[in-house]
Amino acid sequence: MKAVVVEQAGGPEALVYKEVPTPKVKPGWSLVQVKAFGVNHSEIFTRAGQSPSVKFPRILGIECVGVIAETTDPDNLPEGKTVISLMGGMGRDFDGGYAEYALLPNEQIIPVHSNLKWTDLASIPETYYTAYGALTGLRLSQGDALLIRGGTSGVGVAAAKLAKAIDRDIHVTGTTRDLGKSDLMKQKGFDDVVEDKDDKLQTKLQYDKILDLIGPKTIENSLATLAVNGIVSSTGELGGIWSVKDFDPIMMIPNNRYLTSFESGDVKLTWIQDLLNIIEEKHVDVSPSKIYDLTQVDLAHAYLESGQSIGKVVVEVN
Ligand SMILES: NC(=O)c1ccc[n+]([C@@H]2O[C@H](COP(=O)([O-])OP(=O)(O)OC[C@H]3O[C@@H](n4cnc5c(N)ncnc54)[C@H](OP(=O)(O)O)[C@@H]3O)[C@@H](O)[C@H]2O)c1
Repeated sequence: MKAVVVEQAGGPEALVYKEVPTPKVKPGWSLVQVKAFGVNHSEIFTRAGQSPSVKFPRILGIECVGVIAETTDPDNLPEGKTVISLMGGMGRDFDGGYAEYALLPNEQIIPVHSNLKWTDLASIPETYYTAYGALTGLRLSQGDALLIRGGTSGVGVAAAKLAKAIDRDIHVTGTTRDLGKSDLMKQKGFDDVVEDKDDKLQTKLQYDKILDLIGPKTIENSLATLAVNGIVSSTGELGGIWSVKDFDPIMMIPNNRYLTSFESGDVKLTWIQDLLNIIEEKHVDVSPSKIYDLTQVDLAHAYLESGQSIGKVVVEVN
């Protein structure tokens, strides 16, 4: 089969498109023919050698959508069934989705019902699931002012679209470091755009809920921007910092404000189908903003890293 392999850490050129043996099915694992997969910011970190547990060579890719090609669980995962998979060591502990076929543990292959085309379905597993999980943790209520920090990211755009689908009256503001993206952000569903400059929000407004995808670098500034009873969900690490130094909860979390998070490795099967149902019933446009093919994964990484991207980047596998 064809796959994209990282032999050693490096820039986008470290992603090598090549012929490799198709994995052989083993007990408890089934073979998925990959139809498409999303490209994620975390895979940029892994490719660059910033995921210490990942040993190279490795086929990256923490998510994919496709069909069962060979099964060891014909009752739940019959051949030809549409499935999605994400996380669980995929593309890190074992080879992942950047390939024509992926051998995956049965317990993390999720059969789904969906009429979406492959490239749309591929936007969902990691990105929309994370957005959905984080919004659930934010306990959105009618008319909330929601701020999405890292608004132009795949997860950020997904969260804006889902929040609007859940309740049109939620006022959704997105941040970017580049206000030149404002018009496109509004086309993607944001009501307003705020500049994020040197990790400080350029606004005097307060928000009921903040989805902070920049992460530990900006948590303190986000907490300081919350309205009373507001919640921050720190769910990303776009700022490239993984922990808050000298975290002092009493001083950092203002009174009657709350801090939470979401981790997509906690995959709830019912949530995935609920999410697909919302997307189909509310006609949420989940189409990726850019689609590449399997020979172009290096270009997809370069694009995500360029700072030009808005929304989800997907690779279609023919
Ligand atoms: N908790 C979880 O389980 C989970 C699951 C999935 C993803 N995530 C996280 O969610 C975040 C978004 O992921 P993604 O794949 O959707 O991202 P993405 O599409 O690659 O995000 C690209 C955007 O990130 C912004 N950005 C890049 N570097 C930045 C920096 N140093 N400071 C501030 N903004 C920066 C840029 O926005 P501007 O140039 O417009 O400012 C860029 O448009 C990531 O941190 C990812 O790790 C978490």
